[in-house]
Amino acid sequence: MVMTEPPLMLPQANDACWCGSGRKYKRCHKPLEGRVLQGVVSPMRPVPDHIAKPPYAATGHVDRWMEDRVKTPAIIERMRHAGVVAAEILRLAGEMVRPGITTDEIDVFVHEATIERGAYPSPLNYSHYPKSVCTSVNEVICHGIPDSRVLVEGDIINLDVTAFIGGVHGDTNATFFVGEVDAASRQLVNVTEECTWHGIEAVVAGRPISDIGRAIESHAKKHNLGVVRAFIGHGIGEQFHTDVQVLHYYDERASMIMRPGMTFTIEPMITIGTWQHRMVFDDDWTAVTADGKRTAQFEHTCLVTENGVEVLTAKGAVSPSAPWTR
Ligand code: MF3
Ligand code: CO
Ligand code: CO
Repeated sequence: MVMTEPPLMLPQANDACWCGSGRKYKRCHKPLEGRVLQGVVSPMRPVPDHIAKPPYAATGHVDRWMEDRVKTPAIIERMRHAGVVAAEILRLAGEMVRPGITTDEIDVFVHEATIERGAYPSPLNYSHYPKSVCTSVNEVICHGIPDSRVLVEGDIINLDVTAFIGGVHGDTNATFFVGEVDAASRQLVNVTEECTWHGIEAVVAGRPISDIGRAIESHAKKHNLGVVRAFIGHGIGEQFHTDVQVLHYYDERASMIMRPGMTFTIEPMITIGTWQHRMVFDDDWTAVTADGKRTAQFEHTCLVTENGVEVLTAKGAVSPSAPWTR
């Protein structure tokens, strides 16, 4: 008999695997124990006609164009609004996190909540990404696809919400606890949030963008945590991702000077073990840590100002209502 669920009594390493494959347990399902397994991805959800959509929504194909790094006051005002919308949806989605809920149910909520606010869920069909939010559990670094997997007590989950409204994107994410979580995971999540804010505080007009990665990396190192290098922060505005690169580790080559009016995300992914990633799922999106240890992430969309930084997706960020209608 072929079993799809592990039995309560697991075999010894050299015994036959419980799944009926005929292979030794240690060569079959044992390496997957405790790992996040892929579930079933439900069909893509439609977005009503009255919602203004980014160009890739129809095709899944991302065309890039030249976009000024320094935004106009009108664009900045729209980005404030998109930031507030994304932040509110993220907060509400986070309140749904509990043992027993599936990541697909969280996706349904984000999808509906985004549309209700007159926005388009930016991830949907971005480079053919099939869902409206990224849900990354435990060792999943980023870009986890919502599916039928149920959250279980002790998991940690990152929800990455991006809203497109008024012709611009607001991008923010946070990591949440599922019920009671072990001390090492709590420490990981707390330090990751601190890393994000250290990065944000390093935003100073006239300084090179490498200051951000230096601040993040030094805080992570202090706590013996790793910094993922393969995924970075990005310029954002009328396009989801522009050419501005925000490394979360120090590299002197990141010499671009921060200027008032620039907008970009800071979104460090911090690990308990190695910072190296692997693509072990067949979806071409889900990135996991190479050693299977846990990782956390926080993200904010930031605006460089004359005298510091404005965090467009922060709690308490305020937006003029629908500024593009005036
Ligand atoms: N929101 C992610 C970021 O922070 C990007 C997700 S792309 C998607 O850059 F296609 F996976 F949605
Ligand atoms: Co981002
Ligand atoms: Co994001």
